[in-house]
Amino acid sequence: MAAKTDSISHDSHRRTILITAGPTHEPIDAVRFIGNRSSGRMGTALATEAARRGWNVTLLMGPAPVAPTDTDIRLVRFRTCADLQGLLREHVPHSDVLVMAAAVADYRPKVDPQFFGGKFRRKSENLTLELEPTPDLLAEVAKTRRPDQLMVGFALEPRAELLQSARDKLIRKQIDLVVGNPLETMDSESVEAIVLTKDGRETRTPAVMSKTAFAPWLMELIEAAWRDRSA
Ligand code: CTP
Repeated sequence: MAAKTDSISHDSHRRTILITAGPTHEPIDAVRFIGNRSSGRMGTALATEAARRGWNVTLLMGPAPVAPTDTDIRLVRFRTCADLQGLLREHVPHSDVLVMAAAVADYRPKVDPQFFGGKFRRKSENLTLELEPTPDLLAEVAKTRRPDQLMVGFALEPRAELLQSARDKLIRKQIDLVVGNPLETMDSESVEAIVLTKDGRETRTPAVMSKTAFAPWLMELIEAAWRDRSA
């Protein structure tokens, strides 16, 4: 059975978690895009685990081939960073926890208006594509968050820089928890992670884990941070 894609009224007494997953596709013209190798598996596993633990779950999912099968999960699709920005503005105010597992593009093509709705043609000379930076969506929503909300980000980094970059992201994005993964995690079946919290705690995965085994491990830490926050 497929996850629900229409709007459903979630149980109001249950806590709500908003999870983003998968890549973004940033259009170059009507048929081409810049994307990345994110598979969406991590976010899907987290959404499935959160639903199993009784959370109201909304999964904002980019153009990835996977989708949760749990019918309790509200699934909303996005394609670009701009689509996701609109969805976050709509959904974050109604969420208790945000988990930003999506691999959002850092740059997008400045689409030449003459190619809107069409495609550019091959020519013999080189073609230069101009890219503009995208907004940092997590930092943006964290700026206007309520104090009772918990915000979780990811840091995908080369192993040697993982710890320092994850710490920097925690502070720069003003979030509560950051999950640092080495670059090899993207598009892989397994995960190795270090989780850092705002209050200075560091927790490492005991070993390389499957993404399915990792989901309960991480949800445990998210729920503990959530309990600390609302205590
Ligand atoms: N993220 C975001 N908006 C972006 C890019 C990333 O919200 N435009 C989120 C990701 O979903 C992730 C976190 O920010 O939770 C870290 O993403 P990452 O690409 O590792 O880091 P950047 O913020 O892009 O920083 P840098 O390029 O310096 O690594």
